[in-house]
Amino acid sequence: MIKRARNKSDPSEVTTLVDASSGPRHVAIIMDGNGRWAQSRGRPRLFGHHAGAKRVREIVEACPDLGVEYLTIFAFSTENWKRTQTEVAGLMSLFRRYITSQARDLKDNGVRVRFIGDRVKLEASLIKMMDDLEALTADNTRVHLTVAINYGGRDEVARATKRLAQDVAAGKLDPDGIDEETLPKYLDTCLLPDPDLVIRTSGEARISNFLLWQSAYAEYEFIETLWPDFSPEVFAGVVEGYAGRDRRYGGVRNA
Ligand code: FPP
Repeated sequence: MIKRARNKSDPSEVTTLVDASSGPRHVAIIMDGNGRWAQSRGRPRLFGHHAGAKRVREIVEACPDLGVEYLTIFAFSTENWKRTQTEVAGLMSLFRRYITSQARDLKDNGVRVRFIGDRVKLEASLIKMMDDLEALTADNTRVHLTVAINYGGRDEVARATKRLAQDVAAGKLDPDGIDEETLPKYLDTCLLPDPDLVIRTSGEARISNFLLWQSAYAEYEFIETLWPDFSPEVFAGVVEGYAGRDRRYGGVRNA
């Protein structure tokens, strides 16, 4: 159920609250459209990524009022290395700048940050910053923000399978005991619930290798809005739309 509450000290400010029992607990977002947003303004693609980074902060802050406990965002895919060297370097430097400028705020605002993806291809200095931010925010519980960097769903399943096979070879895991509950324990997302809602901005209706295993029963929302235009109001509207959906997980609606 969606409720709207007025701020007592400023009645013109209306907050959207979603009944946690019907709203999505975990929202995952494919933040697409930064390049087109910049190009439509005659600006370089990195200008769009910078505008997109500003949105991340606002969307994280909107989560508690919407009942969203977990937010997972796709910041850089295993395929994004194919972009120009300028764009890749610009994105890596944006991640660094984001961590440096936001660390204290994230810590003070109760945001727990985690990173998923394969870190081996990332620069050591960036990995160190990611580790430090995870440690700094490890006790926070208000919002769980997971940032996917050098992440690909197939790559994640392959890496998980390798570790699982190593455990079998070492005698720590009995192959006869492997079932649907086993593999998720080896995924990067092992500490997260599965996403309830996956949003992709910019009008593209693809999942692009994002959270393949975890999204088996997620609801999808593909919206036209480009990521830098994805305001907390647009976010609230999408979450509101989710609350009206009937999730049956392959079963039938209760009579
Ligand atoms: C896709 O848009 C976007 C990306 C590959 C990068 C996403 C990164 C950010 C939103 C910024 C930083 C994030 C953090 C966590 C600081 P696109 O470039 O493919 O857009 P296009 O399809 O219009 O070309």
